[in-house]
Amino acid sequence: MDELIKKIEEYQKELLSFDASDASQTEEFRIKFLGTKGIVKSLMAEMKALPAEQKKEAGKWINSFKELAEQKYQEFKAKTQQISAAQSAEADLTLPGDEIPLGARHPVSLMRNRIVSIFRRLGFSVADGPEIEDDWHNFGALNLPEHHPARDMQDTFYIQQDPAVLLRTHTSNVQIREMEKGKLPIRGIYPGRVYRNETISARSHCFFHQVEGLYVDENVSFADLKQTLYFFVKEMFGKEARVRFRPSYFPFTEPSAEMDVSCFICGGEGCSVCKKTGWVEILGCGMVHPNVLSNCGINPEKYTGFAFGMGIERPAMLKYGIQDIRLFSENDIRFLKSFCSAV
Ligand code: DAH
Repeated sequence: MDELIKKIEEYQKELLSFDASDASQTEEFRIKFLGTKGIVKSLMAEMKALPAEQKKEAGKWINSFKELAEQKYQEFKAKTQQISAAQSAEADLTLPGDEIPLGARHPVSLMRNRIVSIFRRLGFSVADGPEIEDDWHNFGALNLPEHHPARDMQDTFYIQQDPAVLLRTHTSNVQIREMEKGKLPIRGIYPGRVYRNETISARSHCFFHQVEGLYVDENVSFADLKQTLYFFVKEMFGKEARVRFRPSYFPFTEPSAEMDVSCFICGGEGCSVCKKTGWVEILGCGMVHPNVLSNCGINPEKYTGFAFGMGIERPAMLKYGIQDIRLFSENDIRFLKSFCSAV
């Protein structure tokens, strides 16, 4: 019994000299004195071995030691909680915040925005149309009747239940939808995603983006078309850029042309981008075919119009030096990040 009391007195000294200044020391204290294998528990075990008449006295000693340990533990807990709260409040104020990584605009969006903003300055307004389209708006109304051989130029994806529903092959469907509204004059620019049933390679994909332009009014001529596109080219590629029109064929325009721009990489000298020709093909254009106007309820005797359509990926590839069209849709963060500073 005396031995036990002596031990308790020793432990008491140890307890009183213990100081905890953080949560882990407080925990260390609890385990040492109050834990399942701690001092209080071991004293209790020793007490059990004592003769019955000494147990009461020993119990008192042990209980008051336990109370002291518990009181000390609560003190440490309160103190260290206060310290850590103060520390974290301080840290919030002084540490720099977590960095929020900034994304970058997709190169297709950058190019689209540039194209659209040039035409907006000429008074063209932006409109949108469906990507899932019917045969009439994608082909029929554009003077491409069923079985017309020109349909082969633009194969697309159909659904089995209804072959009249398809993914649009060009944004020319928006011209039709805008003309059908019957509000003239029309001066619109129509950007969007289009689909083609083509083998995917570095140069072609089953989906890409286009911008279509349309101007319908009385007395619109081919001269207006050329002047509008000249303005676009100078704004887009610089004052030195030269333009040439080559006669072409589109069922929805007559006459039709393809427009080339002097190569903006080599300035027309001839390089790998322009395949040594000095010219880069940019868009298709022409005067809206009278059949297309009447298909949309517009009198072709009174009104004329011009239209043009261009891809976005191709000029973006040339401008930003991108070698593979598949990169645009792979969502590789390293690729996307490289356009942070591009405008
Ligand atoms: N829709 C044509 C294509 O996807 C591009 C085009 C050519 C649009 C001439 C036009 C146009 O509006 O007049 O290849």
